[in-house]
Amino acid sequence: MTITVPFYRHDLRPADAEKIAKVLATPILTSGSVGKAVEAQLAAFFGTRYAGLTNSWTNGALAALLAMDIGQGDEVIVPAMTFISSANIAEILGAKPVFVDVAPDTLLISLDRMRDAVTERTRAVIPVHLYGQMVDIRQMKAVLSEMGRPDIRIIEDSAHCFEGRFDDYGPSAHSDVAIFSFYATKNVACGEGGAFVTNSEDLYLKLMQTRLHGMSAGAVDRYQKGHYRHWDMERLGTKANLPDLLAALLPDQIATIRDRLSIRQALAARYESAFRDTPIRIAPVRQEALSARHIFPIHVRPAIRDRAIGILNESGIGVAVNFRSVPTATYYARKYGYTAADFPVSYEWGEGEITLPLFPSMTRAEQDYVIETVRGKVAPLC
Ligand SMILES: Cc1ncc(COP(=O)(O)O)c(C=O)c1O
Repeated sequence: MTITVPFYRHDLRPADAEKIAKVLATPILTSGSVGKAVEAQLAAFFGTRYAGLTNSWTNGALAALLAMDIGQGDEVIVPAMTFISSANIAEILGAKPVFVDVAPDTLLISLDRMRDAVTERTRAVIPVHLYGQMVDIRQMKAVLSEMGRPDIRIIEDSAHCFEGRFDDYGPSAHSDVAIFSFYATKNVACGEGGAFVTNSEDLYLKLMQTRLHGMSAGAVDRYQKGHYRHWDMERLGTKANLPDLLAALLPDQIATIRDRLSIRQALAARYESAFRDTPIRIAPVRQEALSARHIFPIHVRPAIRDRAIGILNESGIGVAVNFRSVPTATYYARKYGYTAADFPVSYEWGEGEITLPLFPSMTRAEQDYVIETVRGKVAPLC
């Protein structure tokens, strides 16, 4: 029997429209008191001094690079196995994304390759917490210090990892800033959105400007107490603020994120045990890591990957590919001459990866069907 299993099903319900209706009843549709309350909630959740909402990971990260004055002539180190936007943000600002391969035992940025890639032009590293598993940021910071380069900024790409941890710490504990995505399919989602958290007052104050054109005061602050206040522009910014209309969807999701993590963990554990005796490879998770289990990637022989995707789609199962190696995408390969041989681990993983459906409302029947189809129709081809 064929059933349809979507790649992703979000948890928002028509009743959540009430939260948006409450914002519509106020004069402020853009960033106001609702977003400010969510920022306080985020700072409390992560135990940071500061948090700011953004309208995407990408725009938040652009604002962070602008706040750090990173641009022309600078280099930013990025893992080759990630989503394109981790690198695009540097490229857009005229900095060079210097790609490094990932470690085969984690699929996360290799600290050895990072060490090799540091030059006098390196200004930042963007470790990516791929699939929900955190990079050991404490270790990364120690390596940069040992190299005599504590000045290199660490910007965590936490798009996949809101609730994940490494050992006894979470995102932002040992970096300059951690940036999240609230895109439609993320563990915390409002359609499009994001946030940053940081302990640096200097970076926070600059980021609050670069997320809003570089203006010295936001819309609400400009009209406080009925009196218009002049604003200035001290640095160049972008437009990265999140409207209250979307921020209103976040508080309940943040408050219940840990409950949903246990559901994600149970789904991931079922997949893992179902595929253990097959030739299908599973993305490894280190013992010290508590993965946010954002998505569930498997790896099949690259020669049959696209055929396997076809079979799963014809069986009514939605899948995705997260991701193909970024430096070998046409744009970066053409511009910088990167080849597959420069990033063997990322390239090989990216040519065989398939992401299976995993979301908190997935039923046992849905997961059984995916498992049965993968075991019955894909595994024999591997
Ligand atoms: C690893 C990673 N970084 C960054 C992003 C960009 O997030 P956003 O769509 O919020 O800009 C994504 C989006 O899927 C991602 O997977």
